[in-house]
Amino acid sequence: MSNIGSYEEKLKDFKWEISEKELEYTKGNRINIGEYCSDRICRMGKGDKLALIWQSHTGEIKKYTFNRMRVLTNAIAEYLKSLGINSGDRVCLFMDKVPELYFGFLGILKMGGIAQPLFSAFGGESLYTRLADAETKAIITQKKHVGKVRKILADLPKLERIIVVDEEEEEKLREKELYFSMDNATPVEHFDIFPSTAETPSVLHYTSGTTGKPKGAQHVHYSLISQYITAKYVLDLKDDDIYWCTADPGWVTGTSYGIIGPWANGVTQCVLDSGFKADSWYKFIEDHKVTIWYSAPTAIRSLMKEGNEVVKQFNLSSLRHLCSVGEPLNAEAVIWSKEVFGLAFHDTFWQTETGSMMICNYPGMKIKPGSMGKPFPGITATVVDLKTYQPIERAGIVGLIAIKPGWPSMFRTYWKNEEVYKSKFRNDWYICGDRASIDEEGYFWFVGRDDDVINTAGHLVGPFEIESALLEHEAVAESAVVGKPDPVNMEVVKAFITLKPGFMGSKELELKIMNFIRKKLSPLAMPQEIEFVDSLPKTRSGKIMRRLLRAKEWGEEIGDTSTLENDD
Ligand code: PRX
Repeated sequence: MSNIGSYEEKLKDFKWEISEKELEYTKGNRINIGEYCSDRICRMGKGDKLALIWQSHTGEIKKYTFNRMRVLTNAIAEYLKSLGINSGDRVCLFMDKVPELYFGFLGILKMGGIAQPLFSAFGGESLYTRLADAETKAIITQKKHVGKVRKILADLPKLERIIVVDEEEEEKLREKELYFSMDNATPVEHFDIFPSTAETPSVLHYTSGTTGKPKGAQHVHYSLISQYITAKYVLDLKDDDIYWCTADPGWVTGTSYGIIGPWANGVTQCVLDSGFKADSWYKFIEDHKVTIWYSAPTAIRSLMKEGNEVVKQFNLSSLRHLCSVGEPLNAEAVIWSKEVFGLAFHDTFWQTETGSMMICNYPGMKIKPGSMGKPFPGITATVVDLKTYQPIERAGIVGLIAIKPGWPSMFRTYWKNEEVYKSKFRNDWYICGDRASIDEEGYFWFVGRDDDVINTAGHLVGPFEIESALLEHEAVAESAVVGKPDPVNMEVVKAFITLKPGFMGSKELELKIMNFIRKKLSPLAMPQEIEFVDSLPKTRSGKIMRRLLRAKEWGEEIGDTSTLENDD
């Protein structure tokens, strides 16, 4: 029997109070995610149970019980406090998927700080934009990434502390840098956990939009109420499960369901700190007897590409439930997983802003391959008209995905950007920015994004951020960045560029520009193709028409361009 039981039955009587009750939370009282994920689980008698099984890319394994996690996260919290970091201060986590990242996250929350996880593959410019915006006070990082921080430090007057978790040679540390070894820290048995309440800020996750700089979606400790119960009902986490979430905590899936959801449920999770490789992924599942697996369509398509033979070399019989998130999960991938694992991947739809799963396929519910499923009980979701924002009553008509505000894990604002936050709401609906339709049976079918944001391998990249960075290259006069189709990553970045006088388009220049962006922003933002053009299509007022370029890449009907020309 799955945790959710019957989805239809749960719909009838679900209230968020069910989650509050299970977590023994009463309104107005304290709620601290760090405490819920470690101390509470220990109080429930699971202190000796494994919380984390971590494996490095070299095969090194480290294991931590819930009690060890409790005293180490206490030690981190105490250390941060000793450095003068106060509640409400932003503390960035800029690390690969090492144990210090996971425990650092909880340590920050325990002392009342706001955790700001950033993807460790970010280059200097991506890092700078987000640290400057959040006025981050401290950053926890590794020696392999500290160089990127050093380069931008002079422009970050608010950044007071750089904590390096693996630099043992103190003489190698520079200005503002400190060494903190988590595994060798004195365990702290008692720490006065910050008495956060429901609306106390907890996590700041940066996400990209079509225009402007990335925005910090600000979450609060009360998000736990959603994350706990969705992890329980959708991922079907039970006491004896071994759970593997392949997402990096630099992105929201890696925190909501790679830290908070599973640990608040007291479940053991595994982390593999290495890139994608089909056989090592299968071996990881076999070795650790993974039962529940939460991954992403790009990874599933990459596994599909490696073929069925490699699957047969491993014993994957421990697996019992599979879920996916981040981009459209194509029907072929669902059918394939059923064929090779005997289990279908269950698609889930949500966003950085929503903080937890919104539209999902549930254990026991009929899966329609290619559909994102139905709204989580307690979530009111629909599609609204593209212009009037009124709910569309008829099945099969494409509109914008809209959710009734008020679920516990909803973001509370964009950091210092209330105006953009407000612009996300129309007629009392939160507008996700995605297009979909709903069929006669209430299943949601994803159509595409409603803006120019590119979703590459399940990660959002903003075209504006890339275009701005391109302009910093000496050869680039103008640019337009769009997504182009890719069989594995769904979309990859393509840049159209006009060159400054004196520069000629060539393969060599293309590679130089690609590398320039990779270093400045990230490998995800790097254009996979650059087309040098004489001019870019523009509206009458001079705005570049990205949508026209995008439509060409996707072989879509462009239609009447005169409307686009006026489209400012
Ligand atoms: O466009 C949708 C796509 O990813 C966006 C959210 O990205 P982000 O905030 O980075 O969070 C990703 C992980 C929660 C959405 O607006 N997206 C997410 N899940 C799906 C999806 N597109 C299609 N199907 C999904 N299941």
